[in-house]
Amino acid sequence: MSWADLIILAGTVAYESMGLKTFGFAFGRKDIWAPEKDTYWGSEKEWLGAARYAEGDKRESLENPLAAVQMGLIYVNPEGVGGKPDPMRTAQDVRETFARMAMNDEETVALTAGGHTVGKTHGNGQAANLGPEPEAAEVEDQGLGWMNKTSRGIGRDTVTSGIEGAWTAHPTRFDMGYFEMLLGHEWELKKSPAGAWQWMPVDIAEEDMPVDVEDPSIRCMPIMTDADMAMKVDPVYREIMERFARDPAAFQDAFARAWFKLTHRDMGPKARYVGPDVPVEDLIWQDPVPQGPTSYDIGHVRARIAASGLTTAEMVATAWDSARTFRGSDMRGGANGARIRLAPQKDWEGNEPARLQKVLAVLEPIAGEAGASLADVIVLAGNVGIEQAARAAGVEIAVPFSPGRGDASAEMADAGSFDALEPLADGFRNWLKKDYAVSAEEMLLDRTQLLGLSAHEMTVLVGGMRVLGTNHGGTRHGVFTDREGALTNDFFVNLTDMANAWVPTGRNT
Ligand code: HEM
Repeated sequence: MSWADLIILAGTVAYESMGLKTFGFAFGRKDIWAPEKDTYWGSEKEWLGAARYAEGDKRESLENPLAAVQMGLIYVNPEGVGGKPDPMRTAQDVRETFARMAMNDEETVALTAGGHTVGKTHGNGQAANLGPEPEAAEVEDQGLGWMNKTSRGIGRDTVTSGIEGAWTAHPTRFDMGYFEMLLGHEWELKKSPAGAWQWMPVDIAEEDMPVDVEDPSIRCMPIMTDADMAMKVDPVYREIMERFARDPAAFQDAFARAWFKLTHRDMGPKARYVGPDVPVEDLIWQDPVPQGPTSYDIGHVRARIAASGLTTAEMVATAWDSARTFRGSDMRGGANGARIRLAPQKDWEGNEPARLQKVLAVLEPIAGEAGASLADVIVLAGNVGIEQAARAAGVEIAVPFSPGRGDASAEMADAGSFDALEPLADGFRNWLKKDYAVSAEEMLLDRTQLLGLSAHEMTVLVGGMRVLGTNHGGTRHGVFTDREGALTNDFFVNLTDMANAWVPTGRNT
């Protein structure tokens, strides 16, 4: 069993043990054994710096593809934007951050309310009392968390976020306590024993107070973070809160589903799920794709494509475009599903909509007559194009092909969720949608990494695609051959020829 599965299973079992009817669980996560050096955390040089917004106060100008508002936070600052309590401003941050994790307002309320129905915050003492972070601690302390040697450092004396208190009267039960507490009281700003801003009730009866973390016969004051207060003061969040407060079954179902999504969305298609508790129901965020046919006559389809009159560049560019949206980070995108023929993909500038429509109009009837999926036929056409181009260069090759992709319908797609997959740059097709702060070269590397390609594969693809004439819009940049359409090594020969001198001409010229 992987650590990744164990950690998520433990969280899920914890919720079950507290009374939640969970939506399901799938095994199948892999562990990595090296730091994720390719993760981009932001351009700041310091923890909790403030430099990731293009336009100061515009929270939606948060640099793409970041989601946390500051480096070092998971979501938003629990004490308020920049540490200044203001639940309306925090609501904006919560909305932006959760949207970038593909969560809508209802899922955000369900997650925050359900998350904080159990457990507590920890700030019963000065943060300065904590020892160094675990990886910088003495050998004998490593693996035991942050040390706090001035007190026991556990139970009642724990210090982590610096905020101190629980949200509900019974923090080990999955109940409606969060709604009763937040909506049933007026709240005022106070400082925790660790000096953090937190909201506390103006007035509360003893029996409504949370039980102590060590001795349930003692009652303690509850708290709300600024993000919890956002659930009460933002009008849209508030409406959802009130609906859930009236309908516990709807809340439990929404939380169970949102928890499942939060903990499974990066696993990719449902086919990758393993184990007895995989939910039967298909969920729209899984980007479902039906199993495609495998028994059609591949040779016949190849022949029909070859005789269709499509050019090598048209076939290869279309196959490439259908495949290039794949991202190994969460297994979304890719050629399976033939979503390139659906909105919004069919209208993306990077997909050259006019050329795309022309090619699809030729390939669709071929797929229909042969009983193949269009997704398969698009890929097969790319193979036919490459085989033809190799033949034109005097080399016979057969590009391997596995059938079985399916075609997703428009109903199987949450169209808006695909906006995040739109290519803004594609160095393989020598194209940038516009100029970006990040260089074109870095964007080429980023796409290569997302596609799971090696440096060798990137290099051979760039050189090959240039001479096949697959540049976006048919531009001539980097097409170092006079035999365009033939799969030659001219790109490499001319690029590395010492007789050629290269000078920079500026971007996009
Ligand atoms: C809206 C954004 C959120 C903020 C700002 C936030 C903030 C916090 C903070 C400051 C703590 C206290 C940590 C400590 O002192 O030990 C905490 C604890 C906790 N949070 Fe959240 N949280 C958010 C969303 C969520 C979500 C989405 C979940 C799960 C679905 C969740 C589940 C929990 C749980 C279970 C605890 C208690 C942990 C314990 O008892 O040790 N939170 N959160």
